[in-house]
Amino acid sequence: MKCIRDDVYSVGAIDFDRRLFDELIPLPDGTSYNAYLIKGSEKTALLDTVDPTKTSVLLDNLVRAGVERIDYLVSHHAEQDHSGSIPDVLLLYPEAKVVTNTRCKAMLIDLLHIEEDKFITIEDGQKLSLGDKTLQFVFIPWVHWPETMGTYLPEDKIFFPCDFFGSHLATTELFVEDEPMVYECAKRYYAEIMMPFRTPIKNNLKKMSELQIEMIAPSHGPVYQRPQFIIDAYKDWVSDEVKNEVIVAYVSMHDSTRGMVEHFVEALVQRGIKVRQFDLVGVDIGELAIAIVDAATIVIGSPTFLVGPHPAAAYAAMLTNALRPKTRFVSIIGSFSWAGKMVEQLTGLLGNLKAEVIEPVVSKGLPKDEDFSALDELAEKIAEKHREIGILK
Ligand code: FEO
Repeated sequence: MKCIRDDVYSVGAIDFDRRLFDELIPLPDGTSYNAYLIKGSEKTALLDTVDPTKTSVLLDNLVRAGVERIDYLVSHHAEQDHSGSIPDVLLLYPEAKVVTNTRCKAMLIDLLHIEEDKFITIEDGQKLSLGDKTLQFVFIPWVHWPETMGTYLPEDKIFFPCDFFGSHLATTELFVEDEPMVYECAKRYYAEIMMPFRTPIKNNLKKMSELQIEMIAPSHGPVYQRPQFIIDAYKDWVSDEVKNEVIVAYVSMHDSTRGMVEHFVEALVQRGIKVRQFDLVGVDIGELAIAIVDAATIVIGSPTFLVGPHPAAAYAAMLTNALRPKTRFVSIIGSFSWAGKMVEQLTGLLGNLKAEVIEPVVSKGLPKDEDFSALDELAEKIAEKHREIGILK
């Protein structure tokens, strides 16, 4: 248990060893499940719990700190990495009421079978007094589930936004010490789960601007004593601005597609465009997700596997489609040996993107001079598009 302000404590758990979230998202730096204890002069509140794998850490922290009573257990978000230990906390502190919104309550009943009479439901903006401290609830939907809310503590000017602004970073440092490192971890987190919700996040940022915030205490990663750092980062990520960058994500079986990618990347670089190239075999999809947060263009490279795209390319396309980056232009390059539907199927997998599709380039077998010329033309078209939107001189 660590004190972040007078009578405000961090009581959650650090998970240095976790390497995947949702059995999908890589966590190269581990994570933490932050829970916060607020002791008011009359009532005590616990904000969130921890992942069920770390329940014992949370309970030990509470017992060691001599916490005899919890009046309110505020649940900001029903996902189990924050809610999963609620049943055990309620067993240890049976007097506690779970404080949340109606949508989160319904989810907690579905996911954890918490009894209906354990809940107190609150509305957006509602306040709950702990005596000399006040919990003010702020609904921040779609970061990244629909029910998510935060709590503002006006006496201390601390905002507890749950996943919002979080970083998957296991560290014993309570506060952010190394902003560039936390920036990367927070951007990875944004890229992997928040990116599809740019519009609601913009609204949430606007709503938060009405609060005087001196500290942001998220549910993953260290606490921000300089909140503007992470607020500015989020403003940048959710803005409509894109960078003069092309992400080339590809897979090659017999070097035809690889030869095309190498030529194409050089053609883009010659035209003043920054390129990031990802071989999809063994790629950390978090790195790819970070890269597509603000790149203007994404190009997927694939050979034809049976009749369609290589499964690794199809996966990259599906992931990109699900994450809905603000990418303005997409294209496809690749190869085939006999008839196939690689381009048609990949294009279909990218249907969610509000991006212009630039004519793909496909080679029959090893690329020939005419294919390299077509790749030069594609690079030139992309350069023209980047100039049109003012990101390339
Ligand atoms: Fe950290 Fe959406 O849970």
